[in-house]
Amino acid sequence: MSYSFNIPDVIEFGTDALQSLPLHIRNQGGSKVFIVTDKFFSNTSYLATVTADLKIYGFSSTIYADVQPDPTDQNVRDGLNSLRKSACDIIVALGGGSVLDAAKVIALMSTNPEPMSQYMGYHRFKKDGIPLIAIPTTAGTGSEVTRVAVITDTERKVKMMMLDNRLLPKVAIVDHKLTLSMPAMLTAAVGVDTLTHAIEAFVSKKANVMTDPIAQSCIQLVAKHLMTAWEKPDDEQAREGMSIAACQGGMAFSNSSVALVHGMSRPIGAIFHIPHGLSNAMLLPVVTKFSLPGAPEKYARISRWMGYATNEDNDSTANEKLVNGLESMNTLLQIPSIQKYKGVDEEVFNSNLEKMANDALASGSPQNNPVVPRVEEIMELYQKAW
Ligand SMILES: NC(=O)c1ccc[n+]([C@@H]2O[C@H](COP(=O)([O-])OP(=O)(O)OC[C@H]3O[C@@H](n4cnc5c(N)ncnc54)[C@H](O)[C@@H]3O)[C@@H](O)[C@H]2O)c1
Ligand SMILES: [Fe+2]
Repeated sequence: MSYSFNIPDVIEFGTDALQSLPLHIRNQGGSKVFIVTDKFFSNTSYLATVTADLKIYGFSSTIYADVQPDPTDQNVRDGLNSLRKSACDIIVALGGGSVLDAAKVIALMSTNPEPMSQYMGYHRFKKDGIPLIAIPTTAGTGSEVTRVAVITDTERKVKMMMLDNRLLPKVAIVDHKLTLSMPAMLTAAVGVDTLTHAIEAFVSKKANVMTDPIAQSCIQLVAKHLMTAWEKPDDEQAREGMSIAACQGGMAFSNSSVALVHGMSRPIGAIFHIPHGLSNAMLLPVVTKFSLPGAPEKYARISRWMGYATNEDNDSTANEKLVNGLESMNTLLQIPSIQKYKGVDEEVFNSNLEKMANDALASGSPQNNPVVPRVEEIMELYQKAW
């Protein structure tokens, strides 16, 4: 069995990494810049700084700021129309995973004309898109380094997962200063998303010798920095640690895979509009408990990296401590259970259990889990997480 490891051509990171943007635009041969962002950023100094910088270097820019959290097919279509009118030759995405994902699909659909649903699944794009520079403002999805994008099909109420090497940005710029403004709940949700990427990449059936050490580093960085970033939003060391962790989590899962947590999380997001990181966090303890028998030794190592278990604990004790530790982490970060999330109705939840379980399985992610579940088992897990 052989593996391939795919990441952007360049990952720029460290202090003031954002200042390198004009250089990377030039290196990619761009001059007319299409900036994809969202409403929040259209009113921030971050965006003003970027456009002013571009002007100094003689680049023109057009802004598309209508990407919504958990982006939709309509957001992509609108962005594509705006891109075509602007005749830009490079895209810069500045925002959270939602903005980055929308920009990735806009970039590719500028050269791939089939209806969007045709691109759901694995390696469906036929041509490269226009070059994309991805700048994350959350820590985070890791989307800046992944070959994945998730776009909601509003008609079918399905989060379409697209995986294709062509979705990789040409350049990722990871500057933790952009994450300093994240409120506590967002820090918590995206931080647990990062952790889930690394845990799932490590226990996945597709885990390999390249992704394992990256996943380990990500888990250790989250253990060290997430609580501090949540308690002290201005702590730059913690923010930097989480930005690097997010980038590593992205590299790990994009070259291994995600598994059952992500498989079950997307249907909850599509129906109840619970943000992606939160729905992962709500599912992580119960799904981990279910999955332990498939990879007890690996989960024990994760438990030790998280600082929940010691080297003296045997694997079974370490596994128990992992589930307890993940539950306590949710409590400390004030992550609600599904039923406590605003607007989630019990009847709607129960009547959608089978659809959600089938959609989870159809995504392919649960098949990489250490224990591959049946539909009924996924339905039970949803009920346990309720
Ligand atoms: N492509 C991938 O590899 C990948 C991986 C995981 C998740 N995702 C997708 O990413 C999306 C979620 O992205 P996300 O969790 O980064 O959140 P997001 O992009 O949806 O942003 C959530 C909210 O936070 C705001 N925000 C972003 N950065 C901020 C900052 N620095 N300060 C203050 N507010 C800020 C946004 O404006 C938005 O209102 C989901 O659609 C999920 O499916 C993609
Ligand atoms: Fe995720």
